[in-house]
Amino acid sequence: MGGLMVARAARRAVLLPTMLTFGVIVASGGLLLMIQKGMLAEVDTLSGRTYGARSRGSGGAQSGVNTEEDWKWSEDPDYQIIQEIRNRTLQSVCKHKTMPHSILDLTSAQRRNLLKHILVNDEYKFLYCYVPKVACSNWKRVIKVLNGVLDSVHVHIKMDHKNDLVFLGDLKNSEIKYRLKHYYKFLFVRDPMERLLSAYRNKFGEIEAYQRRYGMEIVRRYRKNVGQSRGDDVTFTEFLQYLVDEDVETMNEHWMPIYNLCQPCAVTYDYIGSYERLQSDARHILQSVGAPRSVEFPQRQAWYKPITKETLHYYLCKVPQGLLNELLPKYILDFSLYAYPFPNVTDKYCRH
Ligand SMILES: *[C@@H]1O[C@H](CO)[C@@H](O)[C@H](O)[C@H]1NC(C)=O
Ligand SMILES: *[C@@H]1O[C@H](CO)[C@@H](O)[C@H](O)[C@H]1NC(C)=O
Repeated sequence: MGGLMVARAARRAVLLPTMLTFGVIVASGGLLLMIQKGMLAEVDTLSGRTYGARSRGSGGAQSGVNTEEDWKWSEDPDYQIIQEIRNRTLQSVCKHKTMPHSILDLTSAQRRNLLKHILVNDEYKFLYCYVPKVACSNWKRVIKVLNGVLDSVHVHIKMDHKNDLVFLGDLKNSEIKYRLKHYYKFLFVRDPMERLLSAYRNKFGEIEAYQRRYGMEIVRRYRKNVGQSRGDDVTFTEFLQYLVDEDVETMNEHWMPIYNLCQPCAVTYDYIGSYERLQSDARHILQSVGAPRSVEFPQRQAWYKPITKETLHYYLCKVPQGLLNELLPKYILDFSLYAYPFPNVTDKYCRH
């Protein structure tokens, strides 16, 4: 098979300074909370000798040819460590008896919400749990190309987020069960604070419907002097205050925790991609499901303004520490399961 190289996986132990080990306590309501411990963890990891992706079929590729980015993907030991930590944290947290072990353990509202967020592709037999603000429009584009609805991922159209897509929730129970058991399942994750900032800037900065529906409500609740506000001048701090008071299970999907959208304990995902490694992780997944080489994950749109470290620094450093302390427990599973460090808003960090 072209492009396929068998990994010679030597095991080695790596010492990690961590924010990445977590103690686990059970809080009220049976929700697991994890507390970060400053410890060293010993993690067995694959060595950097793993070339190429374990692909089910990269048909048509010249043998042994990997693009430069495939190479980088498999050669980056730090990223492999992160993936392994995610995998292990997920397994150890999900083992806990208070966590759901299948979609039957979810409440019907949780199940409905989950099935609404899983997209189905029968041709290549995969399920994708979409997370808004984590490149989900581009994945929907790719799925439409694989379904034959779009000619190419580059076609200039505004993305239609509902039509021509099959959601797991559209199917019968037996069909859902079959696909959850046999299909390749993946999702993409992103730094939780960066995702919230991205949602904030997009929705309150650009979308009038959100300004009216959410912005005005937020201003009414959290601002002493509402004045003439039309909901388009919500501050990031006001937005976070609003999130502290919202229920994670019913909040808008753009800021609902990834945990609640995709239920990674109830569904055993095969792969968790990172927004930070979008292109190479997407390529890995497309290879894994046997997608034709001609189908490429789209590059970022030229108009897209990524959130830089400086932007995140600017916004976070204006948020009171006490408010962040109240907010973080709501997103704790998104930080801990996917190994994202808590935001650093110490005086020292914020001074420069
Ligand atoms: C975790 O590791 C197992 C065993 O290597 C693998 O089968 C599974 O796909 C991994 N899961 C994720 C989410 O990476
Ligand atoms: C926060 O940032 C400061 C300045 O960059 C650094 O000295 C400090 O160690 C960081 N703290 C944590 C907990 O990462």
